[in-house]
Amino acid sequence: MVPTTPTGPAPRSGHRSPLPGALPAPTDGPAPTNAVPTDGPCTADDPRSPGTGAPETAPAHAVRLEGVRVVHGSGARAVTALDDVSIAFARGTFTAIMGPSGSGKSTLLQCAAGLDRPTAGRIVLAGQDIGGLDENARTRLRRERVGFVFQAFNLVESLTAAENVVLPSRFGGRRVDRDRVAEALQAVGLADRAHHRPSQLSGGQQQRVALARALVSRPDVLFADEPTGALDTVTSAEVLRLMRMLVDARGGTTLMVTHDPVAAAGADVVVFLKDGRVVDRLDLGRGPGDGGGAPCRSSGAPPPRALTERVSVIAARTTRLES
Ligand SMILES: Nc1ncnc2c1ncn2[C@@H]1O[C@H](COP(=O)(O)OP(=O)(O)OP(=O)(O)O)[C@@H](O)[C@H]1O
Ligand SMILES: [Mg+2]
Repeated sequence: MVPTTPTGPAPRSGHRSPLPGALPAPTDGPAPTNAVPTDGPCTADDPRSPGTGAPETAPAHAVRLEGVRVVHGSGARAVTALDDVSIAFARGTFTAIMGPSGSGKSTLLQCAAGLDRPTAGRIVLAGQDIGGLDENARTRLRRERVGFVFQAFNLVESLTAAENVVLPSRFGGRRVDRDRVAEALQAVGLADRAHHRPSQLSGGQQQRVALARALVSRPDVLFADEPTGALDTVTSAEVLRLMRMLVDARGGTTLMVTHDPVAAAGADVVVFLKDGRVVDRLDLGRGPGDGGGAPCRSSGAPPPRALTERVSVIAARTTRLES
């Protein structure tokens, strides 16, 4: 598949301002049905969120799925990958999506990003019902508003790292500043690999090129499918910091699929899938001691002790899900 990471306009300017905050104990969000609450930690009353009645140009949710069902194949071989999923992802939040292998995480991400069409249901992305858009309009929407990091990287083998980063923008007919490409590669620690091809890079380095490609357009919504799956601890932390920054500094929205409780602990919300259904949800809040008021952290990762608590809560939920 051709990489579809889009080029986009400059991000919306500060629809929310980072506030210093503290980490609360994770709140329980048992959601045994698919009728999962559709708000993340930014509520309608939150000044960071436009709230109810917001104009369609500034929707409260970056992405919303309503009754989404995805069935692959037909007859005896039909597989229901998503089974009546309704969930919304608030603007300016970072959500981790977890669940056992085959639970529908990648399917959810691809549908939410407009890369796949669901069998049934409605998806609203950046204020637009994408079911009503033709292929050209969907492609344009993705290029302008979305960044996607694929589970399998999807780099073009014949191109260098820098050329891969710039490719989706070229498809969109846009010029991307060389400095911006260099900056994106520098941000993922690959400034010195700009002219290497994917086969000359390690798996983790390819994954970071894919992230640079998704971030270079400064997307409103970043979808990342196991972006730290092939990375060592240090590089993983750096990649998570970059995704966090898109949310904290640019007011963007990040949806990340991960199997790693440590990676998920940096998110504001963790959503758990099983057998194509959303079965659990954790609202982590944004910083230590925010008392549930969900102020935004002003900088990247939560402090170590809070992080440890988050990790153990997430790991316990994951274990329960897999048992
Ligand atoms: N093209 C396809 N044809 C048939 N079945 C598919 C197809 N794509 C996905 N599936 C099935 O849909 C279900 C959900 O797949 P999906 O890739 O979304 O899982 P996942 O949660 O991302 O798993 P993993 O953690 O292993 O990446 C699985 O049972 C999978 O076998
Ligand atoms: Mg997957």
